[in-house]
Amino acid sequence: MDPKTSPRSLISSLLDTTHLHANLRVCGWVRTFRNDRFLALNDGSTGKNLQCVVDKDALDADVLRKLNTGAAVEVHGTLVESQGGGQATELVVDALLLLGEADPEEFPIQMKRHSLDFLREKAHLRFRTNTFGAVFRLRHLLQYAVHTFFHERGFYQMHTPIITGSDAEGAGEMFRVTTLDLEDLPRNEEGGVDESKDFFGKESNLTVSGQLEAELGAMALGQVYTFGPTFRAENSNTSRHLAEFWMIEPEIAFADLKDDMALAEDCLKFVLGYVLSNGAEDLAFLEKRELDAEKQLPQVERHDAPLTARLKAVVEAPFTHLTYTEVIDILRNSKPYKKKKFKFPVEWGVDLQSEHERWLVEKHVGGPVVVTDYPAGIKAFYMRSNDDGKTVAAMDVLVPGIGEIIGGSQREERLDVLKKKCAEFNIPEEHVWWYLETRKFGTAPHCGFGMGFERLVMYVTGMTNIRDVIPFPRTPQNAEF
Ligand code: 4AD
Ligand code: MG
Repeated sequence: MDPKTSPRSLISSLLDTTHLHANLRVCGWVRTFRNDRFLALNDGSTGKNLQCVVDKDALDADVLRKLNTGAAVEVHGTLVESQGGGQATELVVDALLLLGEADPEEFPIQMKRHSLDFLREKAHLRFRTNTFGAVFRLRHLLQYAVHTFFHERGFYQMHTPIITGSDAEGAGEMFRVTTLDLEDLPRNEEGGVDESKDFFGKESNLTVSGQLEAELGAMALGQVYTFGPTFRAENSNTSRHLAEFWMIEPEIAFADLKDDMALAEDCLKFVLGYVLSNGAEDLAFLEKRELDAEKQLPQVERHDAPLTARLKAVVEAPFTHLTYTEVIDILRNSKPYKKKKFKFPVEWGVDLQSEHERWLVEKHVGGPVVVTDYPAGIKAFYMRSNDDGKTVAAMDVLVPGIGEIIGGSQREERLDVLKKKCAEFNIPEEHVWWYLETRKFGTAPHCGFGMGFERLVMYVTGMTNIRDVIPFPRTPQNAEF
């Protein structure tokens, strides 16, 4: 069989009767082989398998024996209407080539339900499962939807640096980048590390956010967005935190917090709608998976509605808006607060914890909530001070199952106020001189937000651990693969 005789057909194009052809070439991995006759083949183009009908007498006995789950094969044949009930079409195989066998004693991904914990250890092979196939196809679709949304709105994508000297969020949770010999560090006169000898001549880190640079772009191009990897060395081993995650950060000039919130809501609704229209097959698979898994759970722990219905509800209803101060009041009057069920304190001035955010969106509101006007002390230096002198023009979008999915703000565009903020946050002006200069030359109101891409993928797929929506998660004590 000469592989060059016909181009490879994707299984996604062979599942309905519009392409009944002879001389097709299909490649994929064996899911099952029944009765020495029916080979279910998957090539990743869809979650569905192609039924291939083989004539066992025409096959080499050794090849026949090796058609195990996980083996890679190439088949040539004719697509016909299926005689059986399970599928519309099937491929009658003329020739079969075993490309790579998978020893059933050793191949870990067998045709049974594996736990997600087990599959995380096998992240190099978990793509071969129906669940991860669906998750990663939807992840692709989501990034495409994000780019489509911003492009159609006249935004320019901007590539912001991955190596940087600035700590945008001021949380000090950065990964150091250095070429210095850790065994033999150059010292300065005070005995500290002599940064001038390092590759960049000063301390450098992996970025926690592209925002500060995106602001510089927005102050000329008008509307920009970044979509890049960000890194945080925070030691939070939770189901919602990664040390390496992808973030979408739009930045718009001549706009205030209201415009920012409207953009965030439109963006979320657009990408959810896009996936509902274009990823229905994979969503249906994950919805069924979730329903099956929830059968084991008590009623109170199950979702109120199936996955697609939940996403549709978000697209259709306006988001609820509350100020931080209102949220504190609501929380202090809540049952869990009065029954001392919250682990963390609820007081004006203290940051909301995941338990508070989730109670608010899941139990109190039952949908996305935009929380605004947080105390200045718990937010970053660049957020615009409100007239009350206590709060800043910040907004977080909280959603059921996740908590914070988006964090954004109007930026402080007044040079004198920003300089004061730098002093309060102990940020030397010479570190952010370039940032301050945009306030000196043609400053204007502007705003933006950051949407955690993996949190978005979790929200859309219903997956409950962030490690299961990125191919190779990086978390404390874990950078395998
Ligand atoms: O709220 P954050 O820290 O905001 C910023 O970084 C701003 N510079 C954004 C901006 O205004 N341009 O992060 C934004 C979002 C969060 O809402 C969350 O969805 C996600 O990024 N995120 C994480 N996702 C996974 N793992 C982590 N460790 C995350 N930290 C933040
Ligand atoms: Mg935040």
